[in-house]
Amino acid sequence: MKKGFFITFEGGEGAGKSTQISLLASYLREKHSKEVVCTREPGGTIGAEEIRNLLVKGGQDRWDKLTELLLFSAARRDHLVKKILPTVQSGNIILSDRYADSTIAYQCFGYGFNETVYRQAELLYQLIADDFYPNLTIILDIDVQKGLERSKKRAGNDEQRFEDMDLSFHQNLKDGFLFLSRKYPQRYAVIDANRSIEEIHQDIIIVVRERLGL
Ligand code: TYD
Repeated sequence: MKKGFFITFEGGEGAGKSTQISLLASYLREKHSKEVVCTREPGGTIGAEEIRNLLVKGGQDRWDKLTELLLFSAARRDHLVKKILPTVQSGNIILSDRYADSTIAYQCFGYGFNETVYRQAELLYQLIADDFYPNLTIILDIDVQKGLERSKKRAGNDEQRFEDMDLSFHQNLKDGFLFLSRKYPQRYAVIDANRSIEEIHQDIIIVVRERLGL
């Protein structure tokens, strides 16, 4: 099998993931002959985008918490099977705006940490992905207040369901990402996202070179 790479970007609201993904994609396209695919979760395939609409729109209590977790996981399975695995197996690079760590941070930490749900969510991930994990997960770590202000400024955004959660939800999910980065230090890189776009981009390039040799 050819060696492809799967890199995920994670973080709270307004951390600048999409900007950094397009900058990294341009950098990698210039440097390498591999194809670079950009994708997102929830979404990335026709079916998963349909599930996305159910998840990101509407009132905060639209879904029971477990139903919500299962919907994210169902969307992920479709995305994995139809897009992520085929890209990696053909030796190319795929960059995803969010992946499974968002489910741990949002659904297991956001509403208040629940050990049982967390353990079962990790098992559910193994059910849908076996032992397949990203080669690298970049967490853009931003001050919660600053990130929320930024994301609320985005014009015409009707995907507000999670943004509208209270401040403690956002603080909890930030703690969730940092917990994961300490638990799996070999896969994670935490980058201070309170700085300029260019400074953050340069740090990302260093990490991608050092960890993946790209
Ligand atoms: P995204 O499009 O990345 O929103 P943003 O760019 O504003 O961060 O993700 C949509 C929302 O879905 C976002 O609020 C985070 C949430 N989410 C979860 O709660 N769990 C998940 O597993 C994923 C992938 C996303």
